[in-house]
Amino acid sequence: MAKSKKRYVCQACGSVSHRWQGQCPDCAEWNTLVEDAPATVFSQKHDLSSGGRAIAFEPLDAPGEVLMRRTTGLAEFDRALGGGLVPGSAILMGGDPGIGKSTLLLQAAAKIAKAGSETVYVSGEEAAGQVRLRASRLGLADAPIRLAAATSVRDILTTLNTMAPPALLVIDSIQTMHSDTIEGAPGTVSQVRGCAFELIRYAKENGVALVLVGHVTKDGTIAGPRVLEHMVDVVMSFEGERSHQYRILRSLKNRFGPVDEIGVFAMAGQGLDEVANPSMLFLSGRDEPMAGSAVFPALEGTRPVLIEVQALIVRLQSGATPRRAVVGWDNGRLAMLLAVLEARCGLNFSSAEVYLNVAGGYRLTDPAADLAVGAALVSALADRPLPAKSVWFGEVSLAGEVRPVAHSALRLRESAKLGFDCGFGPVEDKAGTAASSAFRYRGIRQLANLVDQVMATT
Ligand code: TYD
Ligand code: MG
Repeated sequence: MAKSKKRYVCQACGSVSHRWQGQCPDCAEWNTLVEDAPATVFSQKHDLSSGGRAIAFEPLDAPGEVLMRRTTGLAEFDRALGGGLVPGSAILMGGDPGIGKSTLLLQAAAKIAKAGSETVYVSGEEAAGQVRLRASRLGLADAPIRLAAATSVRDILTTLNTMAPPALLVIDSIQTMHSDTIEGAPGTVSQVRGCAFELIRYAKENGVALVLVGHVTKDGTIAGPRVLEHMVDVVMSFEGERSHQYRILRSLKNRFGPVDEIGVFAMAGQGLDEVANPSMLFLSGRDEPMAGSAVFPALEGTRPVLIEVQALIVRLQSGATPRRAVVGWDNGRLAMLLAVLEARCGLNFSSAEVYLNVAGGYRLTDPAADLAVGAALVSALADRPLPAKSVWFGEVSLAGEVRPVAHSALRLRESAKLGFDCGFGPVEDKAGTAASSAFRYRGIRQLANLVDQVMATT
């Protein structure tokens, strides 16, 4: 016997409660619970262990289809996807408003259309005229894209079913779509989930590569349901500081490829330009060494990228609470590093304001950046520049030890190639680093050695 129960779904995290609450018990957001369509609850008496059809098991090595990929015409997009679009797959593209999602997808759709494949671009946010205006600004007005402004999934699917399936279908954005079979306004969890389900089913049945644009909440996660992330094959995020030119396309989940490759773009007057060699992008290009600046050899997938970390320390005279402000790095990690510098190295930041900035609007996630941040902080505190043309990497433990990180040889080789002549990093890495004969490598065992090192520089 089946009975139905009221249920409330959190619009932020998708968790389900059986009574309304002001605060979501799972993600602690306020006023996010909304009544959802009732779920059918079966009682214990209902037995599922018989009455079904038998399913067939298959060996893993059975001959299957080969994964075909279609290029997007943008090498950086292909790289982030792990080699191109897979027909019949669903991609969720998240990113802050105005970062360039619509621009990127319009450019990719135009390239594919110009290469002779059908592409459909459905905009729920902008009128067709607006999209056309953008296309002409991008110099793509002649691309044979099928463009529509629509928000009804029923209308979209009815239309698509009357034509040959396109190679690429872009839905911009999933939060604006609605289905008349589901109650609730567009953008609610049940609408987003229901619309995505129908669109993904169409894509899988017809071998269409589907891209769903997803809004991002203020804390950076894709708005509404985490469930959407489970439903799609690939989750990508388009990142960058709006005030800066550079944009990074990252895949956060990929059922068909690696998740550590990135695509790098620069937003210009005529859309997004691809940046094939990003290694020097995030350096400020100064010749004079400056106090508070350290260069970190980061690794994005297989590509090394040199990034400048800048720190500024301002001593406070009054007893006001000092500020700590971070752009491009984790707040908590800065607090940890400051605590280690205070507890293990005897430095005092307690009456000083600390500002940390990663150049070029880049967001650092690699834990190997610890030592570079530490070096920038110590250099700023001592008001002494680090050695000219030096790079710094290594993970710092709570005990103040500098721990080895992955791919140190690759990091050092790239640094040497770009004209740096000395590297500071974990001691264990010393053996594997014959980057070039002119390149010196210094192992640092403890963060306290870093302090000595900086103080000894003149
Ligand atoms: P858009 O693709 O609309 O962002 P999203 O879909 O992620 O919200 O990009 C909008 C921004 O990009 C806007 O602030 C202007 C900028 N832009 C350029 O600088 N050059 C261009 O050629 C285009 C089309 C947009
Ligand atoms: Mg947009």
